[in-house]
Amino acid sequence: MSAATGRIPTGAWKTHDEAETFALGARIGAILTGGEIILLDGPLGAGKTIFVKGLASALGVDASEVTSPSFTLVNRHETDRLTLYHLDLYRLPVGASAAHAVDLDELLADECAVIVIEWAERLGQYPLPTPAWRVSLAGDGAEPRRIRITRL
Ligand SMILES: Nc1ncnc2c1ncn2[C@@H]1O[C@H](COP(=O)(O)OP(=O)(O)OP(=O)(O)O)[C@@H](O)[C@H]1O
Ligand SMILES: [Mg+2]
Repeated sequence: MSAATGRIPTGAWKTHDEAETFALGARIGAILTGGEIILLDGPLGAGKTIFVKGLASALGVDASEVTSPSFTLVNRHETDRLTLYHLDLYRLPVGASAAHAVDLDELLADECAVIVIEWAERLGQYPLPTPAWRVSLAGDGAEPRRIRITRL
């Protein structure tokens, strides 16, 4: 079991700008030890990638290198401690084929990896090993974002 289990905060937040969403992501990233799965959902422009930038920066990844992997599907970032896989399933149909398209099972087998998935809705009911968390973002344009973190 990941050392982060039980330490990742769950609950609801409201962020008023990009920097606050980045900071919440960084707060989560600072706790991660490897072996965690973070599922992000929420519409286009909700702030998923901003959250991942914060999370990645706390792991030691240059935030400017973190971009939505909409075309590549998977971006891999190595740090001194672990590997961060950043997935974006937006272009894939819902269901097991989305998981297969990104070789998710292979990534899940890497116990030292942190896996972060944008448009995780596309996974449908695909079974995931624990520990996993869902980060749901809502809000658009200049309005505040409502961010809810739940343990799966
Ligand atoms: N409170 C906020 N939190 C995050 N982003 C915000 C906030 N307020 C405004 N924004 C803006 O919303 C946009 C969020 O973009 P981002 O790429 O993170 O969205 P996304 O959810 O990853 O979208 P996509 O589904 O297209 O990948 C940015 O342009 C950001 O500046
Ligand atoms: Mg994105």
